Amino acid sequence: MLAGKVAAITGAASGIGEAVARLFVKEGARVVLGDIQGDKLRRLADELGTDRATAQECNVSQEADLERLADAAVSTYGSLDVWCSNAGCYHREGVTRQDGLMENLDTADFDRQVAVNLRGVALGTKHAARAMKRGGRGGCIINTTSIAGLVVNCANSGDPVLVSAAYSASKHGIVALTKLGACELAPYRIRVNAVAPGYTATPMLAKTIGLQHLSKEGKRASTCFSLFVCLLAAKLPAGTPALSEMCTNRPAQVLPSPLPRSHIPHTTLKLAPLKLTGCALGDRMRAPLLPELEAELAKVSIMPGVALRAEDIANGMLYLASDMGRCVNGHTLVIDNGLVAGVAGYVPGLETGDTA
Ligand SMILES: NC(=O)c1ccc[n+]([C@@H]2O[C@H](COP(=O)([O-])OP(=O)(O)OC[C@H]3O[C@@H](n4cnc5c(N)ncnc54)[C@H](O)[C@@H]3O)[C@@H](O)[C@H]2O)c1
Repeated sequence: MLAGKVAAITGAASGIGEAVARLFVKEGARVVLGDIQGDKLRRLADELGTDRATAQECNVSQEADLERLADAAVSTYGSLDVWCSNAGCYHREGVTRQDGLMENLDTADFDRQVAVNLRGVALGTKHAARAMKRGGRGGCIINTTSIAGLVVNCANSGDPVLVSAAYSASKHGIVALTKLGACELAPYRIRVNAVAPGYTATPMLAKTIGLQHLSKEGKRASTCFSLFVCLLAAKLPAGTPALSEMCTNRPAQVLPSPLPRSHIPHTTLKLAPLKLTGCALGDRMRAPLLPELEAELAKVSIMPGVALRAEDIANGMLYLASDMGRCVNGHTLVIDNGLVAGVAGYVPGLETGDTA
């Protein structure tokens, strides 16, 4: 479906970006892969074949890096047809979900997320459009936003939807940039669209879950996520810092490992406050553990048993990138099992029987 096309993908070393790179190459594209994780990126490019894939370290918060990435597609493979602004980040290590609230805003963290998630997309569009216009054969730009770019939930409400001001604002901004880009670039036959994934089993989600405060008892998703973290913890060597850091109310506690399933401390998990400082855990999230994340997501999915995989998001990007999506422009394709449709359709009062 992408034979003869050249694509550049940011955030390609992991998760959704990696799945997009694999799928696009399978569909006949040649790809230039950008990411800050140089080693992982080079391993992926080697695996895909150097005639098909080129790795180029790229920090999307640096305009010069984005310009180099767009130029690399043209100089290496002769054109730039598809640009995926997919790199994204959540809180930096050590910043908690509470710090994400506006009243506690960590300015440096806010600036970093906006620089990567939002400005990176704007500048990516700038340099991709420049290269595509020069090529004269149109093109397609795809931005990765999120369901957090479509709906918001107050992080202090105990709602299971994970948000922070910086993440949500930057992801909402991507939807606006996508519409603007679509209008601005349509005369050059350059389409600009976005994908909005729901909770998808990737290393980023593992880290995100690890960073949240679990402050309310009995919250279905939180409990489930906690269980998932415990299941992962059971796979880690005994005494790893992640295990002892998990329970700030018992900082010295080191859980036995492997942790028998029967020993998964539901009661401990429900003890508030149970603060997860799971960055370390997220960093240990390796491919063999992703099926476990997926299994836990499937349990809380609005579509029972169906969890989103990186490949599901990549499939949406393929549709937008290929000729199947040739008339789709300015659109945000939501891939979330219908979760946001439910949020949008929620009518306050209905649950109390008030149907007015
Ligand atoms: N996983 C989810 O549940 C989910 C949901 C909605 C949206 N998203 C979005 O999907 C995109 C991909 O995330 P993922 O889930 O695959 O996570 P991931 O952590 O597996 O991959 C993200 C990649 O982006 C790279 N990256 C981070 N900062 C960068 C920078 N400054 N410059 C270049 N590369 C950088 C990382 O090194 C990593 O390889 C992100 O934009 C994320 O916000 C993810």
